[in-house]
Amino acid sequence: MIRLCREHSLYSWSRQDSVEPLAVVGGEGAWFWTADGKRLLDFNSQTMSVTVGHGERRVIDAMKAQLDALPYAYPGAATEIRARAGQLLASVLPGDLDVFFFTLGGSDANESAIKAARWATGRHKILSRYRSYHGATAGAMQLTGDPRRWATEPGPPGFIHVLDPEPYGYSFGATAAERTARHLAYLEEVIRMEGPDQIAALFIETVTGTNGVLAPPDGWLRGVRELTERHGILLVCDEVMCGFGRTGRWFAFEHEGITPDIVTMAKGLTSSYAPLGAMALRRGLARRFDERVFQTGLTYHAHPVSLAAAVANVEVLQQDGLVARAAALEPVVREEIDRLAAAHPSVRGGRAIGLFAMIDLQRDASGQPFGGFNAKHPLMHDLYVRLLEEGLFAYVRWSTLMVLPPLCIDEADLREGFARVGRALDVMDAAFEG
Ligand SMILES: Cc1ncc(COP(=O)(O)O)c(C=O)c1O
Repeated sequence: MIRLCREHSLYSWSRQDSVEPLAVVGGEGAWFWTADGKRLLDFNSQTMSVTVGHGERRVIDAMKAQLDALPYAYPGAATEIRARAGQLLASVLPGDLDVFFFTLGGSDANESAIKAARWATGRHKILSRYRSYHGATAGAMQLTGDPRRWATEPGPPGFIHVLDPEPYGYSFGATAAERTARHLAYLEEVIRMEGPDQIAALFIETVTGTNGVLAPPDGWLRGVRELTERHGILLVCDEVMCGFGRTGRWFAFEHEGITPDIVTMAKGLTSSYAPLGAMALRRGLARRFDERVFQTGLTYHAHPVSLAAAVANVEVLQQDGLVARAAALEPVVREEIDRLAAAHPSVRGGRAIGLFAMIDLQRDASGQPFGGFNAKHPLMHDLYVRLLEEGLFAYVRWSTLMVLPPLCIDEADLREGFARVGRALDVMDAAFEG
């Protein structure tokens, strides 16, 4: 299986001579298993996306029923499932964020948002943050601030990157209030220099994902909402990773009670049971396309089977109270990260919001990372392998380890996962200098 997959398909983001795919054959809840019978606790929800957990019958059965009823209809069709999906999503998004454009994933949701923002405002420039990932298609790649963008440069023009309010390594201030105030002043200066009437939108990952699990400092989202509104700049929240309960709220921007102009989503929208993304527009914004052409489309736009997965997935989140569960388990995650930091010299610390966490590793007491910015340290691969040996699947990048289990995980499995991380950390502790 592995040999044929490697021989006949390219793996993403990888040198092909170094890919080591797991032969995944099944799963249930927070666990999945491989062809050789190994059971792994999934601390990354596969691609930060199997939010309701593996093998969820309610989603699978809904997709099967949809296949029997209507597997596909042309993008211009009205379908029962499209009607239900729009209505249900409108009920979980706050305010007047109730018009959706359906795509196949997060990249094309952001791609659509770039177009919609430009057409709606008549402006061209787009701001986004350096510590961000927004997708792999042409526009979404230029929107992306992190080094995954570099290989595609020069890309389409008009994308401007700004610093983040909450990086580690440099600082806008010691307190959250200072960081918020100074970063907002910095952002306003960038807007002034670029020309407020030239800027269509500011895109943010509401809580930054792979680039640090960085929640913005208190007051920042409210400040950004006010600033963008004042300059007629649309605020786009990319909730592809942090949406659908991951942070303990349905959407991460709800932590500060703001309403963005556009929200993009994917991953947890269907828990990856089918490819689907969406761009949610505020009603007033969507109405601007009443009398002008919404000039984009996809053959698989509003695909019935994907929409059936989305509806069933949202219903599972609701029925099982999984959003509240993510919030309730946050203290457990924090406690376990603190426990690891106390027991392991190679653990510098970490952060958690809901079931969305990151552990920072260090190779000496001054906090030096293994590798550092955009540098792969060979020991980090050893850690990934050690975690697999311990029966834990997790995402390791630069000098960090992410913790994003399915939201259905129970406290015992969550603590068990951290115990396995602790055992695997022996490989990093052995390399700690000091
Ligand atoms: C925040 C964010 N935006 C966009 C994307 C792109 O989504 P997709 O891979 O579904 O195209 C991702 C994927 O990881 C993401 O994490």
